[in-house]
Amino acid sequence: MLTHKGTLTLTTPRLTLRRLTVDDAPAMYENWASDEKVTKYLSWDIHESVEATSELLTKWVTEYKKPKYYHWVIEFNGTIIGTINFHAISDKDEHCEMGYCIGSKWWNKGFVTEAAAEIIRFAFEELNANKICALHDTDNIASGRIMQKNGMKLEGLLRKHKMRKDGTRGDLAYYSILKDEWVINK
Ligand SMILES: CC(C)(COP(=O)(O)OP(=O)(O)OC[C@H]1O[C@@H](n2cnc3c(N)ncnc32)[C@H](O)[C@@H]1OP(=O)(O)O)[C@@H](O)C(=O)NCCC(=O)NCCS
Repeated sequence: MLTHKGTLTLTTPRLTLRRLTVDDAPAMYENWASDEKVTKYLSWDIHESVEATSELLTKWVTEYKKPKYYHWVIEFNGTIIGTINFHAISDKDEHCEMGYCIGSKWWNKGFVTEAAAEIIRFAFEELNANKICALHDTDNIASGRIMQKNGMKLEGLLRKHKMRKDGTRGDLAYYSILKDEWVINK
């Protein structure tokens, strides 16, 4: 069984991963929630206003009461740049899925690879997870690179599984890493 600890603050060489607060709304809106490049492959659309961001944060913040809610904001040098989370958590099967996004200003600097490495460690070492999974549209190469750089293996493709925003159907690549493999990689 998983042992839940909730969204604890985690640190990496360059980043702090912490709980979101409603006060993060203006920076979240500015830095990624209003960035169309960010939402291209995501299920949500850009926020129309900072008020929309604030409303969403109000909901998310109440979720922290649940011990199995894992949703971190990624902070670099005092600026919040995106989020990373676990969802689709199965206590019995001891696995979960990882998701992430950051503002395009900060892309390709290794930030999400670094954040993912730390939450994967947290899940294996502190939550008793046996497997971490993640999916990406095969056109979203950067997302797949994060999975590969963290030692995740391709399990297979979910063919034409996702209706993209441009109306085309995308294949999803399904990646995972097992605790045994992570221990070897470490
Ligand atoms: C996907 C995303 C999280 C990547 O975050 P990031 O911090 O830029 O990622 P990193 O810098 O850690 O790694 C990105 C890697 O992809 C590579 N990359 C980026 N675009 C690429 C492209 N078009 N072709 C080949 N490689 C590419 C980078 O070079 C880097 O790999 P490298 O270190 O081997 O050179 C970010 O682009 C994002 O938030 N996108 C929008 C939201 C999203 O798509 N989330 C994922 C949904 S599954």
